[in-house]
Amino acid sequence: MSGIEAGYIGNAAGVLDTTKFELENLARSQANFIVTKSMTIEPRKGNPEPRLKTWGFSSTNSNGLANLGVDAYCVIIPEIESKYDTIVVPSISTSDNVELSVIDQYKLMVSKLEAIGVKRIQFNTSCPNLPGKPMIGNSPETLDDMFKEARPSNIPFSVKVQPYNTDPILFKQVVETMLKYKPAEIVAINSIPLSMFIDTSTMRKTLRPNNGWGGYGGAGILPIATGEVNRWYREIQRRELPTKVIGCGGVYDLDSALQHHMAGAYALEIGTWFLQEGTGVFAQLKRARDAWLADRGYDISDIIGIAERNPEVSEIVT
Ligand code: DHB
Repeated sequence: MSGIEAGYIGNAAGVLDTTKFELENLARSQANFIVTKSMTIEPRKGNPEPRLKTWGFSSTNSNGLANLGVDAYCVIIPEIESKYDTIVVPSISTSDNVELSVIDQYKLMVSKLEAIGVKRIQFNTSCPNLPGKPMIGNSPETLDDMFKEARPSNIPFSVKVQPYNTDPILFKQVVETMLKYKPAEIVAINSIPLSMFIDTSTMRKTLRPNNGWGGYGGAGILPIATGEVNRWYREIQRRELPTKVIGCGGVYDLDSALQHHMAGAYALEIGTWFLQEGTGVFAQLKRARDAWLADRGYDISDIIGIAERNPEVSEIVT
């Protein structure tokens, strides 16, 4: 298996995908592809706990890139891909505590991962949890250098992007920069940064690191995610590029998954729902979506971006 196909469903990077045990658990599930926790050159213990809070259909996290380091994943990924019929996509990020520049860190990880034969690589440009470090996705110049110097030469790559909904000018610059390098996929979106959940019974913040701020995911971010999926989809369509959008953010049931597809998502990633309910969510969503499509005589490709092609607005009052 080497590609990501229409309708594929995988895990969102960073959710139960750090250890070999967790990755194998995903490999045994009905997920069509697996994304690893964002890795760095050196192993990282990450931020002090508590660094993850879940409630309702929601979560905040400030893990601080806790991961095993690229060399460990260079052993684990081939083991899993040889044992299971799946594709493991390494997500790569950068550390603040190594000597190498951001670009050189990406270059080194890409060369190590290409050498062990991974099928594609995901650049995480949107980690919100390194205090004092700007998100790479905020800097079109850094992004340009990163893609110019570090993109893999022989395999496709994808980019995990932050929500750009508050800054249309930055969005346009980032679109120009990223699409120039023809990523196979744009994964939209990462969690919403600087979010907070307070436990009113103790009157305390629930995350210890970074003053209690973390990345927010779950059902509540669906409209932001579909808005961003749709913006990327339009930019890609306008340029007639083969890049696909992978929808990530707020996928919590059939309807939210369909909304992503109709906004333009070719494939989906599930984060908080998977975190809260485990690997069964992949099979559950596939079954529900297959039944919905079959009932209407549609193929998945019929509904990808259909809301974009449909000029009418739904005026049914709810
Ligand atoms: C972390 C969180 C993210 O949303 C991300 O993209 C990368 C890393 C983290 O805190 O570990």
